[in-house]
Amino acid sequence: MELLRAGVKPRPFVKWAGGKRQILKHLLFYAPKEFNRYFEPFVGGGALFFELSPKRAVISDLNAELINAYRVIKEQVEELIESLKKHKNNEEYYYGIRSLKPAELSPVERASRFIYLNKTCFNGLYRENSKGEFNVPFGRYKRPKICDEENLRAVSEFLNSVEVEILNADYGEVCKRAEAGDFIYLDPPYIPVSKTAGFTTYTGGGFGEEDHRKLAEVFRELSEKGCFVMLSNADHPLIRELYRDFKLIEITTNRAINCKGSKRKGSSGELLIMNY
Ligand SMILES: C[S@@+](CC[C@H](N)C(=O)[O-])C[C@H]1O[C@@H](n2cnc3c(N)ncnc32)[C@H](O)[C@@H]1O
Repeated sequence: MELLRAGVKPRPFVKWAGGKRQILKHLLFYAPKEFNRYFEPFVGGGALFFELSPKRAVISDLNAELINAYRVIKEQVEELIESLKKHKNNEEYYYGIRSLKPAELSPVERASRFIYLNKTCFNGLYRENSKGEFNVPFGRYKRPKICDEENLRAVSEFLNSVEVEILNADYGEVCKRAEAGDFIYLDPPYIPVSKTAGFTTYTGGGFGEEDHRKLAEVFRELSEKGCFVMLSNADHPLIRELYRDFKLIEITTNRAINCKGSKRKGSSGELLIMNY
């Protein structure tokens, strides 16, 4: 297979708040061993998606810049690499790129801007203001890896070697497509455990208590359809209440992304919920 010939396993190409690298071993342990299609409707950096490398998948996210980047990596990886190589790591240049309007750029330029900002911005996080504009300050990293050619090519090869649909839609729409035997991994923006901890604003909209209640209904519907469903979230009383009829596993992790610098390595409890 192509992937083995290249010898590089694809991994997330962006640093993403809520990225699952730290709890990946738990996710792998609890994922079903056999299933039809893999669905990840809150894909973000796609840590589990890349790790599982499923042959048939549907991935989606509400963040249009992120999804454009997945599509460009699949279709135009060499143009993207050329564009990424031209970027500079200095403050003035950063704010110039940040001020560009994605809608006025070509898909390759948009993906290049998005990946550049992700690699050079403060803490590698994605945050938008109420107008939907990316507003994270410059990160002052000495040598950020703006263009990881090897991984971008590995991701591209992988996306082209499997049957994968890449959507920019609300999770509810995506989940409607799932059928019995499919595996759906739901990793929504976590419910905040305190007012300052945890990011919930990846996209302009946010994900509040009402959204978590609706998501629990979707979880139940998928379960009744005969899908394998796994969900991760913070260990919070509301989450325990919403999923009390399902299997709950507690896991602990060190969260690298947190609002307060002093708490950057604080450990937090998370829950894994499964219907199987
Ligand atoms: C916790 S992150 C997922 C992290 C991912 N598992 C990873 O490994 O990087 C949650 C994602 O949900 C997306 N999102 C927020 N609201 C959404 C919605 N209503 N439908 C689909 N995606 C949404 C965000 O843009 C964000 O990328």
